[in-house]
Formats: sequence, C-alpha cells, structure tokens
Amino acid sequence: MIYFPISIPFWASCLCFYICYTQAKLHHHNHHHDHDHHENKQMHPSASNTHYTCYGDGIFDVREFGAIGDGVEDDTNAFKKAWDCVCQSQSQTQSPILWVPHGYSFIIQSTIFTGPCQSPLIFQVDGTLMPPDGPKSWPKNNRHKWLVFYRINHMTIKGRGLIDGRGQQWWNLPCKPHRGPNESTLPGPCDSPIAIRFLMCTNLKLQELKIKDSPHFNLRFDRCVRVRIESISITAPASSPNTDGIHIENTNDVQIYDSFISNGDDCVSIGSGCYDVDIKNITCVHGHGISIGSLGNHNSQAWVSNITVSDSTIRHTKNGVRIKTWQGGYGAVNRVKYENILIENVRNPIIIDQFYCSTKQCSNQTSAVLVSDIEYRNIRGTYNVRSPPVHFGCSDSVPCRKITLSEVELWPVEGRMALDAFCWNAYGEMETMTVPPVYCLLDGTR
Ligand SMILES: *[C@@H]1O[C@H](CO)[C@@H](O)[C@H](O)[C@H]1NC(C)=O
Ligand SMILES: *[C@@H]1O[C@H](CO)[C@@H](O)[C@H](O)[C@H]1NC(C)=O
Ligand SMILES: *[C@@H]1O[C@H](CO)[C@@H](O)[C@H](O)[C@H]1NC(C)=O
Ligand SMILES: *[C@@H]1O[C@H](CO)[C@@H](O)[C@H](O)[C@H]1NC(C)=O
Repeated sequence: MIYFPISIPFWASCLCFYICYTQAKLHHHNHHHDHDHHENKQMHPSASNTHYTCYGDGIFDVREFGAIGDGVEDDTNAFKKAWDCVCQSQSQTQSPILWVPHGYSFIIQSTIFTGPCQSPLIFQVDGTLMPPDGPKSWPKNNRHKWLVFYRINHMTIKGRGLIDGRGQQWWNLPCKPHRGPNESTLPGPCDSPIAIRFLMCTNLKLQELKIKDSPHFNLRFDRCVRVRIESISITAPASSPNTDGIHIENTNDVQIYDSFISNGDDCVSIGSGCYDVDIKNITCVHGHGISIGSLGNHNSQAWVSNITVSDSTIRHTKNGVRIKTWQGGYGAVNRVKYENILIENVRNPIIIDQFYCSTKQCSNQTSAVLVSDIEYRNIRGTYNVRSPPVHFGCSDSVPCRKITLSEVELWPVEGRMALDAFCWNAYGEMETMTVPPVYCLLDGTR
C-alpha cells in the first residue's frame, strides 16, 4: 500500500494519481519478464529482479532503450526504461541525462515519471515529443494528463526541442465551448490532458523549452517547492480553450523569468496555497492575462501571499493583471505587487473581481477571501474600451484594503472615449495622479 499525505482539496487528483502510479508500477514490473536483452545495451535485469542495472556514461539516450522517433511508433516503453536508469544513476561528478536527441519525433503515451531519484538529473529535450494524436487514440479512462513528474527532487528539463501537445482535435470536441452543432456546447465530461504536470516536486528548473498546442493546461505545478522557469515559450491559438500557460497551486518559491506565452486562457494562473512567487520579464499574448485565482470556490479557504509581477508585457488579452475570488470562502490574498507592466490593447488591464462566478448562478455571501496590500506601480498602455480599465469590485462584507496605485496610465486604444475607473467597497490610495484617476477608492485602511 502506498501512503499519500493528502488533504481534502487534493484527494481527487491524488486518487487519480494513485491509480496511475499503480499502473506504472505494474508496467515496470512486467518489463522484468520481457527478456529483450538485445534491444538495448545499457540495461540488464539484475539478479534481485527488483532493479535494473544500468550501464552508461551518464547520458541515457532514449534510442538506446528502443525508441524509434519516427513520429509513428509508440516510444513509451523506451522512455520508461530510460527513466528508470537515469533515475537510479548515482553520479558524483555530473548529473545523469535522459537525452531526447535532435532530429527525431518521439511518440509517448500518458506517462508518470516517478522519483525520488538518486542524483540531480537532466531531462534534455532536443528532439520532439508528441502524444498520440487526438481523443480517438487515447484510452477513455485516462484523459487528464500526459506527462507527469511525481516526487522528483532536483531536475532540470531543458533543450532546444519541442513538446507538441497536438491539441487541435481536443479543442474541437463538441463539449468545448461553442464547438457543438450550431455553435452550441454539448454537456458531459470534457476531459483533456494537461501537457506536463509536476506533483510534489522540489528544486525544478525548466529552461529554453518550447511547448505548443497543449490539449489543456500547458504546465501545472501542485505542491512543489523551488521552481524556476526561464526562457521558455508556450504557444497555442488564441481560440484554443483552457490552454492556460503555467498554473501553480500549493506551490512556493517560484520564479518565472524571460518567457513568452501566447495562448487561449490564463497566461499564468496562481491558485490557492502559493507564496513567494516572482514573475519577471514575461510576455503574455492573447488569452486571459496573469491571474490570481479563482479563489474561495465552494466556500473553500485560500491563501496567497508575496507575489510580484514585474518588467512584463501583456498584449491583446482579455485581462491584464487580475485577482478573482468567489463569493463565500475565506482566507486572504495579500502582498501582491505589479510593477513596470506594459499593457497593449487589453480589455480589463487592472481588475479585482470578488464576484467571480462561472455559472451565472452565484448568490452573494457574507464571507469572502480578503484581498489586501495590492500595489500597482508603473502600469502603462492601452485598453479596449468595452469595460473600465481599472475595476475594483470587492465584497460588500469584506472590502479590499490597502490598494496602492502609482504611475498608472491607461488610455483607450482608439477613439476619444475614455472610461472611468470602477470601485466597489475598495480602500486604498493613489500615490500619484493616474489615468484614469481612481477617485472612487475609499479613504483609510479599514
Ligand atoms: C441548427 O442546425 C440545424 C441543422 O443542423 C438547423 O436545422 C437549425 O435551423 C439550426 N438552428 C439554428 C438556431 O441555427
Ligand atoms: C526578456 O525575455 C526575452 C525572452 O522573452 C529575452 O529575449 C530578453 O533578453 C529578456 N530581457 C532581459 C532584460 O533579460
Ligand atoms: C517574497 O518572495 C521573494 C521571492 O519571490 C523572497 O525573496 C522574499 O524573501 C519574500 N518575502 C518575504 C517577506 O517572505
Ligand atoms: C451582489 O452584490 C453586488 C454588490 O452589492 C451587487 O451589485 C450584485 O447585484 C449582487 N448580486 C446578487 C446576485 O445579489
């Protein structure tokens, strides 16, 4: 029996995880009966029959484990074997490398790469990684995730290659918004795989990677600590549903630097339980901007703190920097700083929405996640005049506190008609004059 220290909000994903993990273990076990010695030179079943003995110079090329990389053959087993070797490799001098070579396209089914491993390791993607194409080639009962990294401590994923999620057929399922007959949305489960998930990992680095066309979220981190993402690129069409770029939840000590994300949903989204997050020099295009939330759904508690977004550009998106919470719930979002942000043709550049509701059937409640100590400094650019460029919609019973604005300058993208700021139950101050002026903030810190 495997023990997972889980708490209630996570039981669902962990249960799913447990099932998959068990399957992975079974697969692993079966390999011992394969007797396909000639297939690779680096790996031999050891006498104990519980571990492989892996030989190599610390570079584990997936081709040595039987991967073909012709974009047709299923290379999953080769990746699993290569993972087992790289993960068991003990190297004093340099990190063992799982190598996905340039010039090949590897097909890999939904797979869980499980740690902990013996040494810090490198997953080097110089070639292309792809899942089987479209829902018809996926098993019906396993459509939530594609590549999963679980309980890994110290891993760098990098390379000049491409992770191609082949999302087109998933985005066009009739259960996706307006993809049904006559632009309807058919009811029913609409699962699509997240491209890459990390659960309970520590000391992760993602560098240089290119990820495109994920069927669902591109990257998702749960319960991870110390994550550094730099110089990556994530792309999916503006019209692709739920293709969030980077989603973090219950994760802390996160740096997202020098990256480009163009997609159809949140650029970066920060869920409950995240703190000490630094986002710098990223560009978000299309999609829904940088979001904290939604928080407090189903009267849950949510804590988010010490988030900084700086030196970034947000273009042609629905929102710029957004904080969204549901009515009901408890907890707090505090110490959030947005600084030096260029906004181009964004519909809601600055928005706090404590009445978030995805169903249009939410009633107002007396509790709410408290939003306080939020700074907006040097936020400039243009907005699309369909809604106020500055919107602070706070709960009746739990006002937003300590909102600070300084050097905020937002102009309509075209035409003369500028819109006023909107505030509801929001306390704070303008440190400098702003455009539009936010006179509607209430005085005092309350
Ligand atoms: C929906 O499509 C059907 C045929 O597929 C057509 O008869 C019907 O008029 C359409 N309804 C609307 C509202 O367009
Ligand atoms: C910002 O990120 C981009 C990649 O999106 C990079 O080309 C550029 O050099 C970075 N700027 C700084 C100052 O690091
Ligand atoms: C806030 O987060 C940053 C990392 O983004 C960290 O360096 C800093 O110490 C944190 N501040 C506090 C008061 O915890
Ligand atoms: C909830 O409260 C807000 C602010 O008082 C109000 O504008 C809105 O109409 C209310 N919604 C419902 C469903 O009562």
